[in-house]
Amino acid sequence: MIKISKGRAALLAAAALATGAIASSLSAHGNVTPQAVDTSALPDLAGGNDTWVTVNPYRGNQKALEIGQSAYGQNCARCHGLDAISGGIAPDLRYLETGDSGDEWFIQRFQHGSARDGKVYMPPMGEVLGQKAGWAIRTWIESKHTDE
Ligand code: HEC
Repeated sequence: MIKISKGRAALLAAAALATGAIASSLSAHGNVTPQAVDTSALPDLAGGNDTWVTVNPYRGNQKALEIGQSAYGQNCARCHGLDAISGGIAPDLRYLETGDSGDEWFIQRFQHGSARDGKVYMPPMGEVLGQKAGWAIRTWIESKHTDE
C-alpha cells in the first residue's frame, strides 16, 4: 500500500476537486486536449518558442485574425465562451485591456495558465500551442474588445 501523508492527502483532495470542477465544465463544453494550431502562414518569430515577446507581433495582421478565431474556438471557447462572450465559467476576454500592457498580461496567462492554492484555474497553453498561436488568438480577441 502507498503511504500518503496528511498534507499530501489534502493536496490530492484539492487537486481532485479542481479536476472535478474543470472536468464537469469541460464535459459540458467539448474538447479536453488542446488542439494543435497551424500557424505556418504567419511570420516566424526570431526567438521561436524559447524567447517569448511581450508585445503582439501580429496586431492588425488579417491572417492572424483568422487563425486566432479558429484557434480560440478550439482551445478557449469551452471556458471563456463562444465568440469570446463568457458564460461565467471564466473571465470575459472582451474586457481585456487593449494595446501593449494588455498584450503582456494576455501572453503571461496564455503561456503559464493560472493556479492558486494547488488548484488549476486555467491550464498552461504555451508549451502545447506555442507563442505564434497565442499571438494569433490575442489578435482576434483584441478585435472583439468592448468597454460596455
Ligand atoms: C479549463 C478552462 C480554461 C481554458 C480552456 C482556458 N482558460 Fe483562460 N482562464 C480560465 C480561468 C478560470 C481564468 C481565471 C483565472 C484566475 O482566476 O486566476 C482564466 C484567465 C484567463 C486570462 C486572464 C483574464 C483576466 O481578465 O485577467 C486570459 C488572458 C486567458 N484566460 C486566456 C485564455 C486563452 C487565450 C485560452 C485558450 C488558448 C484560455 N484562456 C483557455 C479558464 C480557462
